[in-house]
Amino acid sequence: MRRRQGQAEEITSAPARSDEQGGATSHGAVAPLPVPACERSVSKSSALPSLGFGLGVRPAHYEALLGERQGSVGWLEALTENYLVPGGKPLHYLERLRAEYPIVLHGVSLSIGSADALNETYLAEVKALADRVEPAWVSDHLCWTGVDGVNLHDLMPMPFTEAALRHVVSRIAAVQERLGRRLVLENVSSYVSFTHSDMTEWEFLREIALRADCHLLLDVNNVYVSSVNHGFDPMAYLRGIPVERVQQFHLAGHRNMGDYLIDTHDAPVCEEVWQLFHAAVERFGPVSTMIERDDNIPEIDVLLAELDRAREITAAAQASRSAA
Ligand SMILES: [Fe+2]
Repeated sequence: MRRRQGQAEEITSAPARSDEQGGATSHGAVAPLPVPACERSVSKSSALPSLGFGLGVRPAHYEALLGERQGSVGWLEALTENYLVPGGKPLHYLERLRAEYPIVLHGVSLSIGSADALNETYLAEVKALADRVEPAWVSDHLCWTGVDGVNLHDLMPMPFTEAALRHVVSRIAAVQERLGRRLVLENVSSYVSFTHSDMTEWEFLREIALRADCHLLLDVNNVYVSSVNHGFDPMAYLRGIPVERVQQFHLAGHRNMGDYLIDTHDAPVCEEVWQLFHAAVERFGPVSTMIERDDNIPEIDVLLAELDRAREITAAAQASRSAA
């Protein structure tokens, strides 16, 4: 889990790719994402758009993204909670950026795993923002952020049990219906686990995606951080995720504390995560990819250089897919 810096991250909804068993994927033409609001349920669809290579929208980069660096980035991920207040400078910039880029919304406040009731006010605000911005998709995290009205300001991991599965699946269905679009859920990094979990994280994630008919945002750094902290094989994690459900990749930096890792988003992507990203592209194909940087934010050219590396690795991984 990553500490939330007072503001948000993402929320998403998405369509899928073609092979539930892990075969070839197709990231073809951009398709309109929003499911018509009148639909009672989210259709079992496919073919989410591949947006290419993007960055998270950060205020320090507003002007560069609208000016000299326009064209260097394929799409942008905006932190939902930063734009829920009508009017003001953030929404002004978001609408200007939306005129130039595909946008996805990424939230941190859904708390889809909590035992508390869904926050209907928040859902209505997210829906209003999504209706205004028309994002390619809306995402949030597979986690809980509080209970009994207490907000922990952290993305807490789930127990991986059948009861938790049923609980979350029913809530995802409700959220997808409220938003009128398919949700994209991200795996969080974690530092603790539940002794009563009776399946792996990737088995849990797979079942969530299939039963709820939602999509996944695979944070490659989070997989790596959790694999070190809990001692599992990150390749087993990747192999356990259904190919056609992965809508987006996150790449980010973390901090090495010696005997554990913390997901900090304040540093460049490390070599081990780049290697795991190569393996992820080999398995999932050229999924929409972005760099997450929330602290120690550098000049945009530093992030663009990381994005170029993501492009190079994706090309190499695709070449090895084709050769296999
Ligand atoms: Fe992430």
